[in-house]
Amino acid sequence: MNILAIESSCDETAAAVVIDGVNVLSSVVASSLKEHAPYGGIIPEIASRRQIELIDPVVNQALSQAGLDLKAIDAIAVTARPGLIGSLLVGVSYARALAFATHKPLIEIDHIQAHLYASFLSNSEHQGLSFNQLPAIGLVVSGGHTSLYLMKTPSDQQVLGTTQDDAAGEAFDKVARLLNLGYPGGPVIDRLAKEAVGQPIKFPQAKLHNEYDFSFSGLKTAVLYYYQKHHQQPDFNLAQVVHGFQDSVVKTLVEKTIKAAKTFKVRTIVVGGGVACNSHLRQQLTSQAQGNGLQAHFPLLAYCLDNAAMIGGLAFHYCNKTIKN
Ligand code: KG4
Ligand code: ZN
Repeated sequence: MNILAIESSCDETAAAVVIDGVNVLSSVVASSLKEHAPYGGIIPEIASRRQIELIDPVVNQALSQAGLDLKAIDAIAVTARPGLIGSLLVGVSYARALAFATHKPLIEIDHIQAHLYASFLSNSEHQGLSFNQLPAIGLVVSGGHTSLYLMKTPSDQQVLGTTQDDAAGEAFDKVARLLNLGYPGGPVIDRLAKEAVGQPIKFPQAKLHNEYDFSFSGLKTAVLYYYQKHHQQPDFNLAQVVHGFQDSVVKTLVEKTIKAAKTFKVRTIVVGGGVACNSHLRQQLTSQAQGNGLQAHFPLLAYCLDNAAMIGGLAFHYCNKTIKN
């Protein structure tokens, strides 16, 4: 089954063609990220205006890279929630109109569930995770969401805990902004932390009533206070500060994920979302999972950040729940 998928929930405009839920024939991503950088965060109005300009060329490019025309497409999938309303509206309206005009089924997909699905995608160079590795503990760490799931099947994902304030990616972005490191913060902090020498500075980890919930806003404030107090001292080292911050976020994510895997007696961990690009998280979770007899799986970097391949892949598993035109 060939699914044409569209993703437009934030600043990326993406389209992909995915066969039978796993084989990615094409995945095209355009982004208005650079236009938001001067503001230190996404400006919804700029994002939705760019979506309108980009959506048609991006969909056409995904079809032509897949070597298919619309006649060869069996269904259309689109991100329906959550996201910036103006951006979502562009993708959903486009997809609904296309499905209506071509008499194809439309499948509306949850963006967060799709991030968790990304590890199962394969392309010409990479074999994705196999479904017989399920059930799994799923960790979604993106710019807007941080949650732990018990994932029994691709479409059955039970929430165990979620962030009570900032998402992990949001914490990276906000800390980078207060340290004047630019936007988005994740990749800059990831790079700069590698230059740190010696022990990371110790920052707090939040303790919460539900052990699978997350909170990163206190950590962000602790970094701010540390910076205000120490940044004029001669031995102040910015790399060590971001190393300490990243270490605290990663420790929290790893501890809770491994605890959940042990409690629910599953051996597989899957991670998704933009923060799944983080090199320290990839290394720490992989090695600590192994140390506990578990296996951690990360998507290809291209499928960690927002993309439409993950939407088209997951949509295959919802085909019996489609809206028929
Ligand atoms: O999943 P995503 O593309 O968008 C949302 O659905 O939110 O994630 C974007 C987030 C941003 O907050 C960005 O700073 C973060 O992912 N990010 C990273 C890294 N690369 C991107 N965070 C930590 N380390 C990275 N290498
Ligand atoms: Zn996302």
